[in-house]
Amino acid sequence: MFQIGVFLKPIVGVVMIKRGSRSKAWQGPRLPVLIACLGLILVVSILLMGENSEKPNSSYGLVKQKWNSFDSSVQLNPTVELRNGTDVIWQIPDSPKAVLFLAHGCNGRAVHFWDRSPNCPNCIGLPEERLLVLHALSRGFAVITISSAGRCWTLGEERLVVREIIRWWVERHKLEKLPLVALGASSGGYFVSALAKGLRFSSIALMIAEGLFDQMDIPEDYPPTLFVHMPKDSYRQRKIGEFLEVLRNKGIDVAEIECMEFPLSRNFFIDRIPGLEQANSTKLFELFQEKGFIDENGYMRSDGRRTRWKEALRESNAIFLNKNLVHHVQEELNLAFAYHEMTSLPSEQIFKWFETHMS
Ligand SMILES: *[C@@H]1O[C@H](CO)[C@@H](O)[C@H](O)[C@H]1NC(C)=O
Ligand SMILES: *[C@@H]1O[C@H](CO)[C@@H](O)[C@H](O)[C@H]1NC(C)=O
Repeated sequence: MFQIGVFLKPIVGVVMIKRGSRSKAWQGPRLPVLIACLGLILVVSILLMGENSEKPNSSYGLVKQKWNSFDSSVQLNPTVELRNGTDVIWQIPDSPKAVLFLAHGCNGRAVHFWDRSPNCPNCIGLPEERLLVLHALSRGFAVITISSAGRCWTLGEERLVVREIIRWWVERHKLEKLPLVALGASSGGYFVSALAKGLRFSSIALMIAEGLFDQMDIPEDYPPTLFVHMPKDSYRQRKIGEFLEVLRNKGIDVAEIECMEFPLSRNFFIDRIPGLEQANSTKLFELFQEKGFIDENGYMRSDGRRTRWKEALRESNAIFLNKNLVHHVQEELNLAFAYHEMTSLPSEQIFKWFETHMS
C-alpha cells in the first residue's frame, strides 16, 4: 500500500535564505513576532482575471496571535469517540455553518488538535493545531479530526474508511446540508487531495503538500484548492507551481499562500504555548542565543528538528521546560524556520478561502 510519508527532505548544508527580500518592517524591534504568511493572492479564476493576468501585489499581513486569543469567546470542548478502530474527536459550535475535516501530518494524531480536558485526558493541544480549531469554531465551523491508522495516511482502504466515518458523522449530526471543507497538512495534505475525489468538498486547503495531482485524473468538478506552503522548501514550491498550473488549466479555482520564516523573541514561546511561564520563555530564548541556534536577528539557523536544542536543554543545569511541552516548542521552532510545519498563522486567509467557496 502506498504510504504518504516522506517529507522532511534532508536539509543539506546551508539553506539559502533570501534575507534581502524580507520587508524592512519585519526587522523593526517593535514588531516582535509575526507573521509570516503572505497571501500571494489568489485566485486565479481564469474567469475573473484571464490567463495573462499578473500576480496581484503580495502583501505581508501582520498577525500577532496568542495562544489564548480566544480565551473567553470560544472554548475547546470536544467529544472523543472510537470508530473503525481509530479515534474521532469533534466539536460542533452553536448554529454551525459548515463542516471542516482536519487531517494531521505523519506522526500526528487527532489528540494534537485539542487541549487536555476531562473530556479528552489524552489530548495534547499542539500550538498550531489548537489555534486552527479555535479559528474554525469561532467562525462557525463544526470540526472533525480523525487519527490515521499508521504513522502517516495511506491511500488504499484508509481513504474509504475515513470517507465513511465523515459521512456517518455528518449524517448523525444532521449536518448534511452544510458545506464540507477539508484542510490537510503534509501527509494529510496528500490524503485530502485524494479524498476530494470521492467526497464532495466545497473547497480544500493543502498545507505544506503539493497533493497527488500527478497521480490522478482530475475531474472538472474538483474542489477549489488553496496551497499553503513554505517556499524555503523549494522542491515542494516547484511542484506546487506546476500543480497550480495544471488545476488552473482545468478551470479549477486555485490560490497559494506562502509562509516565511520569522524571528524568535523573548516572548515567542509564552505567546504561542499554553502553560508556559514568562521566565521559562525568556530562558529558552536566551539558551537559543547563547548556543547560536538563532542568528543575531533571532532567526533560526536550521530547522528545529535539526537543531540540538533538546540536548542543550538537558545539559544546562536549570530544567525550565516541562517535558510535556517539548513537542510544542519543537513545533514552534519548525514554524519559525518555515521549512515544513503545520501553521495557523494564515488562518484568516484560509477561512476566507473556505467561506468564499461555499455555494
Ligand atoms: C466502520 O464501522 C462501522 C460500524 O462499526 C461498520 O458498519 C463499517 O462497515 C466499518 N467500515 C469499514 C470501512 O470498515
Ligand atoms: C518553568 O521552569 C521551572 C524551573 O525553573 C520548572 O520547574 C517548571 O516546570 C517550568 N514550567 C514549564 C511549564 O515548563
